Amino acid sequence: DLDTILASIAYAGSLDEVEALRVKHLGKQGDVSALLKTLGAMSPDERKVEGPKIHALRESVAGALATRKAALENAALEEQLASETIDLTLPAPETPRGSVHPISQVMDELAEVFADLGFAVATGPEIEDDWHNFTALNMPESHPARAMHDTFYFPDRDAEGREMLLRTHTSPVQIRAMIEQGAPIRIIAPGRVYRSDSDATHTPMFHQIEGLVIDKGIHLGHLKWTLETFLKAYFERDDVVLRLRPSYFPFTEPSVEVDVGYTMVNGKRVVGGSEGWMEVLGSGMVNRKVIAAAGLDPDEWQGFAFGTGVDRLAMLKYGMDDLRAFFDGDVRWLSHYGFSA
Ligand code: PHE
Repeated sequence: DLDTILASIAYAGSLDEVEALRVKHLGKQGDVSALLKTLGAMSPDERKVEGPKIHALRESVAGALATRKAALENAALEEQLASETIDLTLPAPETPRGSVHPISQVMDELAEVFADLGFAVATGPEIEDDWHNFTALNMPESHPARAMHDTFYFPDRDAEGREMLLRTHTSPVQIRAMIEQGAPIRIIAPGRVYRSDSDATHTPMFHQIEGLVIDKGIHLGHLKWTLETFLKAYFERDDVVLRLRPSYFPFTEPSVEVDVGYTMVNGKRVVGGSEGWMEVLGSGMVNRKVIAAAGLDPDEWQGFAFGTGVDRLAMLKYGMDDLRAFFDGDVRWLSHYGFSA
Protein backbone atom coordinates (compact mmCIF):
# COMPACT_ATOMS: atom_id res chain seq x y z
CA ASP A 1 0.00 0.00 0.00
CA LEU A 2 0.94 3.68 -0.39
CA ASP A 3 2.21 4.22 3.15
CA THR A 4 4.58 1.26 2.90
CA ILE A 5 5.90 2.46 -0.43
CA LEU A 6 6.43 6.03 0.86
CA ALA A 7 8.18 4.73 3.99
CA SER A 8 10.55 2.56 1.97
CA ILE A 9 11.44 5.58 -0.16
CA ALA A 10 11.94 7.87 2.84
CA TYR A 11 14.38 5.35 4.37
CA ALA A 12 16.34 4.64 1.19
CA GLY A 13 19.99 4.87 2.21
CA SER A 14 21.60 5.68 -1.11
CA LEU A 15 20.95 7.12 -4.55
CA ASP A 16 21.23 3.59 -5.95
CA GLU A 17 18.46 2.45 -3.64
CA VAL A 18 16.27 5.40 -4.70
CA GLU A 19 16.82 4.45 -8.34
CA ALA A 20 15.96 0.79 -7.65
CA LEU A 21 12.71 1.92 -6.00
CA ARG A 22 11.88 4.17 -8.93
CA VAL A 23 12.27 1.23 -11.32
CA LYS A 24 10.27 -0.99 -9.00
CA HIS A 25 7.28 1.39 -8.87
CA LEU A 26 7.39 3.74 -11.83
CA GLY A 27 9.51 1.74 -14.32
CA LYS A 28 7.92 0.07 -17.37
CA GLN A 29 7.34 -3.13 -15.39
CA GLY A 30 6.68 -1.22 -12.14
CA ASP A 31 3.62 -1.88 -9.96
CA VAL A 32 2.25 1.67 -10.18
CA SER A 33 2.72 1.56 -13.95
CA ALA A 34 0.78 -1.71 -13.99
CA LEU A 35 -2.07 -0.04 -12.12
CA LEU A 36 -2.14 2.76 -14.68
CA LYS A 37 -2.48 0.20 -17.43
CA THR A 38 -5.65 -1.28 -15.83
CA LEU A 39 -7.44 2.01 -16.59
CA GLY A 40 -7.70 1.02 -20.26
CA ALA A 41 -9.87 -1.98 -19.47
CA MET A 42 -12.27 -0.05 -17.22
CA SER A 43 -15.70 1.27 -18.09
CA PRO A 44 -15.92 5.07 -18.41
CA ASP A 45 -17.76 5.37 -15.07
CA GLU A 46 -15.24 3.21 -13.24
CA ARG A 47 -12.38 5.13 -14.87
CA LYS A 48 -13.83 8.45 -13.65
CA VAL A 49 -13.53 7.19 -10.08
CA GLU A 50 -10.30 5.14 -10.28
CA GLY A 51 -8.37 7.42 -12.72
CA PRO A 52 -7.77 10.33 -10.32
CA LYS A 53 -6.88 7.93 -7.45
CA ILE A 54 -4.26 6.09 -9.48
CA HIS A 55 -2.79 9.30 -10.86
CA ALA A 56 -2.60 10.79 -7.34
CA LEU A 57 -0.83 7.65 -6.15
CA ARG A 58 1.69 7.96 -9.00
CA GLU A 59 2.25 11.64 -8.16
CA SER A 60 2.95 11.00 -4.48
CA VAL A 61 5.39 8.19 -5.28
CA ALA A 62 7.20 10.36 -7.84
CA GLY A 63 7.29 13.29 -5.36
CA ALA A 64 8.67 11.10 -2.58
CA LEU A 65 11.38 9.76 -4.90
CA ALA A 66 12.42 13.31 -5.92
CA THR A 67 12.49 14.53 -2.33
CA ARG A 68 14.63 11.63 -1.15
CA LYS A 69 16.96 11.96 -4.11
CA ALA A 70 17.50 15.67 -3.40
CA ALA A 71 18.09 15.02 0.30
CA LEU A 72 20.70 12.33 -0.42
CA GLU A 73 22.49 14.53 -2.99
CA ASN A 74 22.53 17.44 -0.57
CA ALA A 75 23.96 15.26 2.21
CA ALA A 76 26.73 14.05 -0.13
CA LEU A 77 27.60 17.67 -1.02
CA GLU A 78 27.66 18.72 2.66
CA GLU A 79 29.96 15.84 3.47
CA GLN A 80 32.31 16.76 0.62
CA LEU A 81 32.41 20.42 1.67
CA ALA A 82 33.11 19.46 5.28
CA SER A 83 35.99 17.21 4.29
CA GLU A 84 37.50 19.87 2.02
CA THR A 85 37.43 22.73 4.49
CA ILE A 86 40.64 24.82 4.53
CA ASP A 87 41.81 25.93 7.96
CA LEU A 88 42.65 29.57 7.39
CA THR A 89 43.99 29.95 10.92
CA LEU A 90 46.85 27.54 10.19
CA PRO A 91 50.15 29.48 9.93
CA ALA A 92 51.60 29.19 6.40
CA PRO A 93 55.23 28.18 5.97
CA GLU A 94 57.48 31.13 5.12
CA THR A 95 58.25 31.41 1.41
CA PRO A 96 61.47 33.27 0.63
CA ARG A 97 61.04 35.76 -2.18
CA GLY A 98 63.67 37.01 -4.58
CA SER A 99 63.98 40.51 -5.95
CA VAL A 100 65.49 42.39 -8.84
CA HIS A 101 69.26 42.83 -8.32
CA PRO A 102 70.25 46.45 -7.58
CA ILE A 103 72.41 46.60 -10.72
CA SER A 104 69.50 45.46 -12.90
CA GLN A 105 67.18 47.88 -11.15
CA VAL A 106 69.53 50.82 -11.69
CA MET A 107 69.94 49.90 -15.38
CA ASP A 108 66.13 49.80 -15.70
CA GLU A 109 65.81 53.16 -13.91
CA LEU A 110 68.39 54.73 -16.21
CA ALA A 111 66.77 53.28 -19.33
CA GLU A 112 63.50 54.86 -18.18
CA VAL A 113 65.08 58.25 -17.52
CA PHE A 114 66.70 58.24 -20.96
CA ALA A 115 63.58 56.95 -22.68
CA ASP A 116 61.89 60.16 -21.51
CA LEU A 117 64.67 62.09 -23.26
CA GLY A 118 64.11 60.14 -26.48
CA PHE A 119 67.01 57.66 -26.21
CA ALA A 120 66.61 54.09 -27.45
CA VAL A 121 68.50 51.15 -25.93
CA ALA A 122 71.25 49.56 -28.05
CA THR A 123 73.39 46.52 -27.28
CA GLY A 124 76.61 44.95 -28.50
CA PRO A 125 78.55 41.75 -27.85
CA GLU A 126 80.60 41.26 -24.68
CA ILE A 127 83.12 39.28 -26.74
CA GLU A 128 84.48 41.99 -29.05
CA ASP A 129 87.26 42.37 -31.58
CA ASP A 130 90.00 44.92 -31.05
CA TRP A 131 88.84 47.01 -34.01
CA HIS A 132 85.46 47.89 -32.40
CA ASN A 133 86.86 48.07 -28.86
CA PHE A 134 90.00 50.11 -29.68
CA THR A 135 91.03 50.88 -33.25
CA ALA A 136 87.79 52.50 -34.47
CA LEU A 137 87.74 54.49 -31.23
CA ASN A 138 91.02 56.15 -32.20
CA MET A 139 93.22 53.75 -30.27
CA PRO A 140 95.37 52.11 -32.93
CA GLU A 141 97.68 49.23 -32.04
CA SER A 142 100.46 50.30 -29.64
CA HIS A 143 98.39 53.32 -28.55
CA PRO A 144 99.34 53.92 -24.89
CA ALA A 145 95.66 54.19 -23.84
CA ARG A 146 95.22 50.51 -24.68
CA ALA A 147 97.55 49.61 -21.83
CA MET A 148 95.30 51.48 -19.35
CA HIS A 149 92.49 49.01 -19.93
CA ASP A 150 94.02 45.77 -18.53
CA THR A 151 92.33 43.83 -21.30
CA PHE A 152 91.36 40.15 -21.18
CA TYR A 153 92.45 38.79 -24.58
CA PHE A 154 91.44 35.46 -26.13
CA PRO A 155 94.31 33.28 -27.37
CA ASP A 156 92.83 32.95 -30.90
CA ARG A 157 91.98 35.56 -33.52
CA ASP A 158 88.69 35.67 -35.42
CA ALA A 159 88.19 34.71 -39.11
CA GLU A 160 89.31 38.17 -40.24
CA GLY A 161 92.49 37.95 -38.18
CA ARG A 162 91.26 40.42 -35.56
CA GLU A 163 92.33 39.96 -31.96
CA MET A 164 89.38 38.96 -29.77
CA LEU A 165 88.80 40.25 -26.26
CA LEU A 166 86.23 40.86 -23.55
CA ARG A 167 85.10 44.43 -24.18
CA THR A 168 86.75 46.81 -21.74
CA HIS A 169 84.00 49.43 -22.04
CA THR A 170 80.61 49.95 -23.71
CA SER A 171 82.10 52.45 -26.21
CA PRO A 172 82.36 49.85 -29.05
CA VAL A 173 78.53 50.01 -29.15
CA GLN A 174 78.97 53.62 -30.38
CA ILE A 175 80.76 52.26 -33.44
CA ARG A 176 78.23 49.49 -34.02
CA ALA A 177 75.30 51.92 -33.71
CA MET A 178 76.80 54.39 -36.20
CA ILE A 179 77.57 51.63 -38.71
CA GLU A 180 74.22 49.89 -38.32
CA GLN A 181 71.84 52.86 -37.95
CA GLY A 182 73.63 55.75 -39.64
CA ALA A 183 72.75 59.24 -38.37
CA PRO A 184 71.00 60.81 -36.52
CA ILE A 185 71.39 58.66 -33.39
CA ARG A 186 70.19 58.89 -29.82
CA ILE A 187 71.00 55.73 -27.85
CA ILE A 188 72.15 54.41 -24.53
CA ALA A 189 73.96 51.07 -24.26
CA PRO A 190 73.92 49.37 -20.87
CA GLY A 191 75.94 46.22 -20.25
CA ARG A 192 78.80 44.26 -18.72
CA VAL A 193 82.43 45.19 -19.30
CA TYR A 194 85.64 43.47 -18.21
CA ARG A 195 89.07 44.54 -16.98
CA SER A 196 91.74 42.48 -15.30
CA ASP A 197 91.55 44.44 -12.07
CA SER A 198 90.35 43.49 -8.58
CA ASP A 199 90.34 45.30 -5.24
CA ALA A 200 87.80 46.97 -2.90
CA THR A 201 86.75 49.43 -5.60
CA HIS A 202 87.31 47.31 -8.74
CA THR A 203 85.83 43.99 -9.88
CA PRO A 204 87.00 42.22 -13.06
CA MET A 205 83.45 42.45 -14.40
CA PHE A 206 81.43 45.60 -13.91
CA HIS A 207 78.65 47.55 -15.64
CA GLN A 208 78.58 50.67 -17.75
CA ILE A 209 76.00 52.71 -19.57
CA GLU A 210 77.17 54.39 -22.73
CA GLY A 211 75.33 57.33 -24.23
CA LEU A 212 75.65 58.55 -27.80
CA VAL A 213 73.98 61.40 -29.65
CA ILE A 214 74.84 62.11 -33.29
CA ASP A 215 73.03 64.88 -35.11
CA LYS A 216 73.63 68.26 -36.74
CA GLY A 217 74.91 71.23 -34.75
CA ILE A 218 75.41 69.29 -31.52
CA HIS A 219 77.69 71.06 -29.01
CA LEU A 220 78.98 70.79 -25.45
CA GLY A 221 75.91 72.62 -24.10
CA HIS A 222 73.69 69.73 -25.21
CA LEU A 223 75.98 67.32 -23.40
CA LYS A 224 75.93 69.33 -20.18
CA TRP A 225 72.14 69.73 -20.21
CA THR A 226 71.62 66.02 -20.89
CA LEU A 227 73.92 64.92 -18.07
CA GLU A 228 72.40 67.39 -15.61
CA THR A 229 68.87 66.34 -16.52
CA PHE A 230 69.60 62.62 -16.26
CA LEU A 231 71.52 62.87 -12.96
CA LYS A 232 68.76 64.98 -11.35
CA ALA A 233 66.12 62.49 -12.50
CA TYR A 234 68.17 59.47 -11.44
CA PHE A 235 69.00 60.82 -7.95
CA GLU A 236 65.50 62.31 -7.67
CA ARG A 237 66.91 65.64 -6.41
CA ASP A 238 66.93 69.14 -7.85
CA ASP A 239 70.05 70.19 -5.95
CA VAL A 240 72.41 67.94 -7.93
CA VAL A 241 75.46 70.02 -8.92
CA LEU A 242 77.87 68.96 -11.68
CA ARG A 243 81.48 69.90 -12.19
CA LEU A 244 83.01 69.41 -15.62
CA ARG A 245 86.78 68.96 -15.71
CA PRO A 246 88.91 68.87 -18.86
CA SER A 247 90.20 65.38 -19.48
CA TYR A 248 91.47 63.07 -22.20
CA PHE A 249 89.87 60.14 -24.02
CA PRO A 250 91.12 59.15 -27.48
CA PHE A 251 87.54 58.91 -28.79
CA THR A 252 86.30 62.33 -27.64
CA GLU A 253 87.66 65.82 -28.32
CA PRO A 254 87.31 67.83 -26.21
CA SER A 255 86.88 65.39 -23.33
CA VAL A 256 85.38 66.13 -19.94
CA GLU A 257 85.21 64.19 -16.73
CA VAL A 258 82.12 64.87 -14.69
CA ASP A 259 81.96 65.06 -10.92
CA VAL A 260 78.78 65.20 -8.88
CA GLY A 261 78.67 67.24 -5.66
CA TYR A 262 77.89 65.60 -2.32
CA THR A 263 77.14 66.61 1.27
CA MET A 264 78.20 64.62 4.34
CA VAL A 265 75.16 63.37 6.29
CA ASN A 266 75.89 61.23 9.40
CA GLY A 267 79.30 60.32 8.03
CA LYS A 268 77.89 59.28 4.63
CA ARG A 269 78.19 60.99 1.28
CA VAL A 270 74.80 62.07 0.01
CA VAL A 271 74.44 63.40 -3.53
CA GLY A 272 73.38 67.07 -3.60
CA GLY A 273 75.17 70.28 -2.71
CA SER A 274 78.91 70.78 -3.19
CA GLU A 275 80.79 69.98 0.02
CA GLY A 276 82.88 67.49 -1.94
CA TRP A 277 83.07 66.01 -5.44
CA MET A 278 82.90 62.46 -6.80
CA GLU A 279 83.71 61.45 -10.33
CA VAL A 280 80.73 59.73 -11.97
CA LEU A 281 81.41 59.66 -15.69
CA GLY A 282 83.63 60.35 -18.67
CA SER A 283 82.35 62.15 -21.72
CA GLY A 284 83.06 64.56 -24.53
CA MET A 285 82.34 65.53 -28.11
CA VAL A 286 82.77 62.50 -30.37
CA ASN A 287 86.18 62.69 -32.07
CA ARG A 288 85.96 63.42 -35.84
CA LYS A 289 88.22 60.42 -36.46
CA VAL A 290 85.69 58.13 -34.71
CA ILE A 291 82.77 59.48 -36.73
CA ALA A 292 84.81 58.93 -39.92
CA ALA A 293 85.92 55.42 -38.86
CA ALA A 294 82.24 54.48 -38.48
CA GLY A 295 81.54 55.67 -42.03
CA LEU A 296 79.83 59.02 -41.36
CA ASP A 297 80.94 62.43 -42.60
CA PRO A 298 82.28 64.43 -39.62
CA ASP A 299 81.69 67.72 -41.46
CA GLU A 300 78.00 66.88 -41.58
CA TRP A 301 77.49 65.07 -38.28
CA GLN A 302 78.62 65.95 -34.75
CA GLY A 303 77.77 64.45 -31.42
CA PHE A 304 78.59 63.76 -27.83
CA ALA A 305 79.19 60.56 -25.92
CA PHE A 306 79.44 59.58 -22.29
CA GLY A 307 80.16 56.47 -20.29
CA THR A 308 79.25 55.92 -16.67
CA GLY A 309 79.73 53.12 -14.15
CA VAL A 310 76.39 51.61 -13.18
CA ASP A 311 77.80 49.97 -10.06
CA ARG A 312 79.14 53.30 -8.85
CA LEU A 313 75.81 55.02 -9.49
CA ALA A 314 73.97 52.24 -7.63
CA MET A 315 76.28 52.56 -4.59
CA LEU A 316 75.75 56.32 -4.51
CA LYS A 317 71.99 56.14 -4.73
CA TYR A 318 71.46 53.32 -2.25
CA GLY A 319 74.27 54.13 0.20
CA MET A 320 76.17 50.88 -0.37
CA ASP A 321 79.89 50.95 0.30
CA ASP A 322 81.40 47.66 -0.90
CA LEU A 323 81.52 47.14 -4.66
CA ARG A 324 82.42 43.45 -4.38
CA ALA A 325 79.29 42.72 -2.33
CA PHE A 326 77.22 43.29 -5.49
CA PHE A 327 78.52 40.04 -6.90
CA ASP A 328 78.64 37.85 -3.77
CA GLY A 329 74.97 36.86 -4.02
CA ASP A 330 74.56 37.26 -0.25
CA VAL A 331 70.83 37.58 0.39
CA ARG A 332 71.44 39.16 3.83
CA TRP A 333 73.45 41.97 2.23
CA LEU A 334 70.81 42.53 -0.45
CA SER A 335 67.94 42.57 2.04
CA HIS A 336 69.85 44.99 4.28
CA TYR A 337 69.56 47.49 1.44
CA GLY A 338 65.92 46.65 0.82
CA PHE A 339 66.49 44.40 -2.18
CA SER A 340 64.98 41.20 -0.85
CA ALA A 341 61.83 40.36 1.06
N1 PHE B 1 84.73 54.47 -22.31
C1 PHE B 1 85.22 55.37 -21.30
C2 PHE B 1 85.66 54.51 -20.10
O1 PHE B 1 85.33 53.38 -20.01
C3 PHE B 1 84.15 56.34 -20.85
C4 PHE B 1 83.75 57.29 -21.92
C5 PHE B 1 82.70 56.99 -22.77
C6 PHE B 1 84.37 58.50 -22.09
C7 PHE B 1 82.30 57.86 -23.77
C8 PHE B 1 84.01 59.39 -23.05
C9 PHE B 1 82.99 59.06 -23.89
O2 PHE B 1 86.36 55.01 -19.23
